[in-house]
Amino acid sequence: MAIEYTLAMVKPDAVGKGSTWHIIQDMASSGLKPVAVRMTRLSKEQAKIFYAVHTGKKFFEGLTDFMSSGPIMALVLEGENAIHKYRDLMGATDSKKAAPGTLRQKFGTDVSQNAVHGSDSPENVRREAGFFFSGTELAILGLNIDAIGASAPATAPTAPAAPGAPATPAKH
Ligand code: CDP
Ligand code: MG
Repeated sequence: MAIEYTLAMVKPDAVGKGSTWHIIQDMASSGLKPVAVRMTRLSKEQAKIFYAVHTGKKFFEGLTDFMSSGPIMALVLEGENAIHKYRDLMGATDSKKAAPGTLRQKFGTDVSQNAVHGSDSPENVRREAGFFFSGTELAILGLNIDAIGASAPATAPTAPAAPGAPATPAKH
């Protein structure tokens, strides 16, 4: 099975309830390893851009209000079959219909406030990871933006030195 990346978000409802670390534990238990993490808050405009595919739908205003209502955490996850594995872990869009044990059933409320986001295709992993992380940031973390959405390399590429960091990493 191929090692893949996916882009996950802990949404404002779950961050606000203090569920972030429980969600990360469930990710880890499923074999999904966070390899890039950012806590931030989306503006209404940024939420509209992130969810542009839903422009014009009846839930778009509510969705973008909700997604800009408080802090979120964005994570790049690495793991075998990560995109589908994480969609399975999230469960159905509507938290009320999500299967027992899924993140949305455990931490969400309804079809809108559903705790988590996950990319649904390699193309969207690339777009959504690029939304939260610059190519340089990902490269410093040893991730190649061009490989995101494709299979991860068997061995991690050597990360370039971060600005101000020693040219050669310390040996352990
Ligand atoms: O997140 P997912 O891919 O499962 O669902 P989506 O159809 O791509 O919808 C994106 C997000 O819009 C959902 O996760 C919900 O937060 C929100 N939504 C909503 O508020 N009302 C709906 N009827 C459908 C989706
Ligand atoms: Mg979707």
